[in-house]
Amino acid sequence: MKLFLDSANIEEIREAHALGVLSGVTTNPTLVAKEGRDFHTVIKEIIGIVSGPVSAEVIATDADGMVEEGKRLFELGPNVVIKVPLTKEGLRATDRLARLGIPTNVTLVFTLNQALVAARAGATYVSPFVGRLDDIGHDGIALVEDIVQVFERHHLDTEVIAASIRHPEHVARAARAGAHIATVPYAVLMKLIEHPLTAQGLERFLADWRRARGAEPVPG
Ligand code: E4P
Repeated sequence: MKLFLDSANIEEIREAHALGVLSGVTTNPTLVAKEGRDFHTVIKEIIGIVSGPVSAEVIATDADGMVEEGKRLFELGPNVVIKVPLTKEGLRATDRLARLGIPTNVTLVFTLNQALVAARAGATYVSPFVGRLDDIGHDGIALVEDIVQVFERHHLDTEVIAASIRHPEHVARAARAGAHIATVPYAVLMKLIEHPLTAQGLERFLADWRRARGAEPVPG
């Protein structure tokens, strides 16, 4: 399973990219609005850092508008993926963008059937929202597992992005469920790295080293 960063914050993206674990980035209008900066400028900066897929979401709600916005966003760079909401107009736009050779990430997916119609419309990626389903008492990861199995069974090559990830256990479960990608907020990415026993273990190794070597400084 690949890891994408779910963020429009340039500092977070730079930091995560430097770890060498990032395969792409997803943004959404909420994340971009939080930055208070020009949308296209933000996307241009992100694609200057990350060479993998970078999802940028359309704001239009009609297919013509989505396609026009999608075309303009795709001009920013060949790794821009057009994020389109799962609506009738969104499906029309997905189909038209696919015919133009422009990749899409169909977002706000909450059921298997929504994922299926998105794949049939030619979506490159679908994004089931795990955390938001959990919030209303459903099992978001069960949906991811279902979509992965059905896509495999019917030979659909649309990739599944586990989105709306809230904690490390979501990431582990998405990987076990066979998601192709999990898109994670920066805070969750940091939690994937940290473990108290790793910190304690390192502290003990260095203390033992110092004890054995006296005042000799620890390199680094
Ligand atoms: C996915 O691409 C979305 O940007 C994101 O995962 C939404 O997550 P949220 O439910 O935490 O807003």
